[in-house]
Amino acid sequence: MLNIKPLLLLHNFMSLFRKKSIETILKNAETESEHGSLAKHLGVRDLTAFGIAAIIGAGIFSTIGKASADGGPAVIFLFLFTAIACSFAAFAYAEFASLIPVSGSAYTYSYVAFGELFAWIIGWALIMEYAIGNVTVAISWSDYFTSLINNATPYQVNEWLCLDYFTAKENYEKVFGYLIAGVPFDEIKANIQTSGLVEGFLAYGHAPQLFGMHIVFDLPALIINVLITMLVYRGIKESRNASNIMVLIKIIVVLLVIFVGAFYIDTKNWNPFAPNGIGGLLKGISAVFFAYIGFDAISTTAEECRNPQRDLPRGILYSIVICTVLYVAIALVITGMVNYSELAVGDPLAFVFEKIKSLSWLSGIIAVSAVVAMASVMLVFQLGQPRIWMSMSRDGLLPPAFSKIHPKYKTPSFSTIITGLLVAIPIFFVDMSMVTDICSAGTLFAFCLVCGGVLKLRMDPNAPPSKFKTPYINSKFIVPALFVLSIVLMCIYQKSTVDYYLKWESLNSFFIKLPVYFFIIGFAIFSGMAFKYSFSLIPSLGLLCCFYMLSQLGYKNWIYFGIWLIIGLVIYFLYGRKHSKLAPKNN
Ligand code: ALA
Repeated sequence: MLNIKPLLLLHNFMSLFRKKSIETILKNAETESEHGSLAKHLGVRDLTAFGIAAIIGAGIFSTIGKASADGGPAVIFLFLFTAIACSFAAFAYAEFASLIPVSGSAYTYSYVAFGELFAWIIGWALIMEYAIGNVTVAISWSDYFTSLINNATPYQVNEWLCLDYFTAKENYEKVFGYLIAGVPFDEIKANIQTSGLVEGFLAYGHAPQLFGMHIVFDLPALIINVLITMLVYRGIKESRNASNIMVLIKIIVVLLVIFVGAFYIDTKNWNPFAPNGIGGLLKGISAVFFAYIGFDAISTTAEECRNPQRDLPRGILYSIVICTVLYVAIALVITGMVNYSELAVGDPLAFVFEKIKSLSWLSGIIAVSAVVAMASVMLVFQLGQPRIWMSMSRDGLLPPAFSKIHPKYKTPSFSTIITGLLVAIPIFFVDMSMVTDICSAGTLFAFCLVCGGVLKLRMDPNAPPSKFKTPYINSKFIVPALFVLSIVLMCIYQKSTVDYYLKWESLNSFFIKLPVYFFIIGFAIFSGMAFKYSFSLIPSLGLLCCFYMLSQLGYKNWIYFGIWLIIGLVIYFLYGRKHSKLAPKNN
């Protein structure tokens, strides 16, 4: 008798990769009329503005400081490298966005290229980019806002209303420990190593208590989150108008910084140009990449564009080019105005002008515009997340409420509120640097899959033509040559690094090195595939560059991200797999 069990198992396994055709996706998006359709108000200028709104934010106003202090003026190379990597990925986004102009962005693209399981994974990873990314931006926004209120008005924000609970508690315990050990409070405040703990100490110490629990939370971060959620709920047109104004303000201020700052550059500060070598530069990779995150969010507004196939690719590429020029110019100006070692501050742009007496007025303007810039990043991210959920819900992978469109405002109302909650809850207890790194990891992962998706799609001779097509350059010999060249150059010029990776020290150090091992093995396998299938060069380089950056993010972020993916997979197998529109009816 025929044993059908293995066949069933195989069938079940294969169904994890069931795919949607582009025609079905486009038809579904059109006929979602039972919930209403989205309003189409966006043109190429709005999309470029949306891109800039999403890109220029906490990265350039804040994290660039630490990256410049680690890498020196050579940080511009990191900006250029990241810009090139992002542009490669942007081509892949542009190609997909023009082929499948619906709201799901990378999620929908993966559904077409790799099938349902990958689509779910990418949709789940994008929560890291948009919702968790917004936690970072909200906290950073609150830092600038609080210092503006404290410095420029007669009011002071209570310490216990501008910090998360766990940071405050941890800092309190540390300072308490120093005090018990006999270190005077003034000394703790004056010491550069411990002064950062004082805010948390005061916050926790002064906080009111409820049932013995200290009440410490970041009120401004919560308020900005509520305001942005309300705006996004209210309508795309209102969000667009608000975004356009915010973009204008931040571009004017960034240009002001560049043009005024250029007169105060002392070229002696550019010498040495790379004081800490490649190692110092690479420390800034997460921060610099975070500064570029956002251009992909444009693709989530595809259904609200008047002519998505023409305008989306243009909007994505224009915004990335504009931001790169501004970033490199700013990096040159600030590292030229002061010595790189002084730049490890949270507000580097305001800081460099504060140092020049006659220009301290400009530092106030920069602080105000930082608040505006970060609000606009939040706006775009808060706009992107619900639209991805909407697409996942339309496919049956999330409950129908997620694709409900508000009858009057024509926005995905339920998803918008859930996004607001998802940003609000972590604000109470997470540490900012941790969420920044996890956000970068999730986003890089998504970029890798989108680049891979374009390669996969182009291997299919029946794939429909896209109105925007990445120029094809055959990578058959280039990618394998790059692999060999990188290994040879590493062996010649970075001998100590090669020795470090080849040496067995302990299990712990093996785990620390694991992401780099993955990259090298992945690069080798990919070179073989590029040779065999004559992959297109631009998406291939996009995938490799993003994978490389991912390998530099530190193994702990891989672990956090892995746990997040496992939680996602459990939800998929409990809900999405059964309710998927592609599941057999009797399932
Ligand atoms: N690129 C965005 C920022 O820097 C996420 O805030």
